[in-house]
Amino acid sequence: MAFAYRNGTLCAEELPLEEIGKRFGTPCYVYSRAAIEGAYREFTDALAGRASLVCYSVKANSNLAVLALMAKLGAGFDIVSGGELSRVLAAGGDPRKTVFSGVGKSESEILRALEAGILSINLESEEELARVNSVAGRDGLRAPVAFRVNPDVDAKTHPYISTGLKQNKFGVAYAEAERLYQEASRLAHVEVAGIGFHIGSLMADSAPVADATGRIVSLVERLERSGIALDHIDLGGGMGIRYKDETPHPIATFVRGALAALGPRREKLILDPGRSIAGNAGALLARVEYIKPGETRNFLVVDAAMNDLIRPALYGAWHDVLPLRAPESSGAEAVYDIVGPICESADFLAKDRALAARAGDMLAIMSAGAYGMCMSSNYNSRPRAAEVMVSGREARLVRRRETVEELYALEQIPSW
Ligand code: LLP
Repeated sequence: MAFAYRNGTLCAEELPLEEIGKRFGTPCYVYSRAAIEGAYREFTDALAGRASLVCYSVKANSNLAVLALMAKLGAGFDIVSGGELSRVLAAGGDPRKTVFSGVGKSESEILRALEAGILSINLESEEELARVNSVAGRDGLRAPVAFRVNPDVDAKTHPYISTGLKQNKFGVAYAEAERLYQEASRLAHVEVAGIGFHIGSLMADSAPVADATGRIVSLVERLERSGIALDHIDLGGGMGIRYKDETPHPIATFVRGALAALGPRREKLILDPGRSIAGNAGALLARVEYIKPGETRNFLVVDAAMNDLIRPALYGAWHDVLPLRAPESSGAEAVYDIVGPICESADFLAKDRALAARAGDMLAIMSAGAYGMCMSSNYNSRPRAAEVMVSGREARLVRRRETVEELYALEQIPSW
């Protein structure tokens, strides 16, 4: 367990969070190295014996320490921007194990990816195919490409993170895919490498991925009959984690379902999980500034806010909030909304939580390792939180807290 009470105090691996908060200050993201490694190994164990590659989805948590850890474990990467490519390279990741997704790749992003030797550019439209062909042609390169096909399968998740339905902006239409592959196979500067989909995030059930895989397999069979052979099939990410009391299918079940749907196909299987690797490996540590009893609700005002963790405000997401001392020893409870200092009523991290807390206490906002720090902002001129990685009893600062001066260091007052 990445985070658990030991001798009555909440620890990251073997280190009390209290010590981390005192040493590095709050708000502070804390990641467990063992938890990240463990989640990655659940994928590789389930895929053992199969030609496969786990491309960690950089957008979930793009801290260089996390990327370097993944690279050391042998992972590939799923990126969506030139910025993410730079991070992968800076962390020692292998571009030949990196796939590039996203609906709006610019010419310069495409060129950089090709020059770096990317494994696959995952195309999202016919126009993008033409753009990649011409960018590659200008430099005498051949671009390895895959189409992201929209299989029109309902991932049964939050509408903001559902991506595999006809009405979503992602991928090329299933019915168009064969024609696009034929077109790609005739172009001089692209090399058809694979096919992929990603139907959504935070899926509890493995069935939609298996269904989508089945649809893609029949497409792959048709392509094969028309003389187009592929190297890889990318089934995306999206495996859910437990935030509250959900019981998402284990990673092995997702993998088993996909393998069954792939049947005898022998193309390399690529997965690009993000949340299921980093999500429960991280917590956000905050300190109670004030206890503010209200007329209808009681508030715990903490020093972390929606700029640090936007998921509750954006998706109505639930994150557990734990006191650092085991609940049975932390005194009388009251019900609170846990809110930050930002001037918005959407600035809450949790609502209606029974907690015993006093001003000055620290709290851990759980399951914050994915889509936490990477979605943070400087709203209200708040410097972004520090990030710390724990391994056993050791803690290392992996991103120092920003200073206020850094927030406006790029700004200039015109002299007129
Ligand atoms: N592959 C592709 C092409 C993706 O678009 C995504 C996520 C992933 C893989 C990784 O999905 P995961 O395994 O992490 O579910 N900000 C939202 C999640 C947005 C996910 C976007 N795409 C949240 O906080 O819940």
